[in-house]
Amino acid sequence: MIKNAQFVISNTDYKKCPEPTKPEFAFIGRSNVGKSSLINMLTNNKNLAKTSGKPGKTQLINHFVINGNWYMVDLPGYGFAKVSKGIKSTWEKMISNYLTNRDNLVALCVLVDSRLEPQKIDLEFITWCGENDIPFILIFTKSDKQAKSKTQQNIQKFLNECVKIFGEDPQFFVTSAQSSEGKEDVLTFFDEEVKE
Ligand code: GTP
Ligand code: MG
Repeated sequence: MIKNAQFVISNTDYKKCPEPTKPEFAFIGRSNVGKSSLINMLTNNKNLAKTSGKPGKTQLINHFVINGNWYMVDLPGYGFAKVSKGIKSTWEKMISNYLTNRDNLVALCVLVDSRLEPQKIDLEFITWCGENDIPFILIFTKSDKQAKSKTQQNIQKFLNECVKIFGEDPQFFVTSAQSSEGKEDVLTFFDEEVKE
């Protein structure tokens, strides 16, 4: 249960993030996949994380403290073609430094658009997570946008690709920031991980 969610700080450097003394869950995925919207849905606060119809809205590492004892972290998206190469590599460094150095990161939530067939960029990203021992789960987003059967087909295809890469399915959730589908399941996952 989330009783309280507050913005703490935005950073470009993981070293300036809050002391790594509380469990932390970060949200990543392609630009516009719905990371910030999901955080707002989970915390019942439409204005907590900044969202936009245009990709590339979130550009920093944003910490939110939940119930005073764990963190949600909104990260910039990857695969945003409109930024210059220089900015892209700065972002990539910022994110990869954060992900590989943040000791209190319990799980990285990799958001995947449930409307799409498996995308190369997402498969490459989770492969990189595997290579770098970053524990991740999958959160399929925007389930309200198409028929359940289509969502199921796309998820099955994505999981098949995961089996090819890892030999097993990762843990996954199906969500919608619009209908709040998946809310209880994702929050239960966080609660159980925080308790351990
Ligand atoms: P960046 O910060 O730019 O990387 O994007 P983001 O992944 O944080 O996406 P954001 O939450 O800003 O949402 C992008 C757009 O998708 C916005 O117009 C949202 O309203 C819309 N959106 C996000 N989640 C959902 C959802 O579950 N259902 C529907 N219908 N729209 C959604
Ligand atoms: Mg965002």
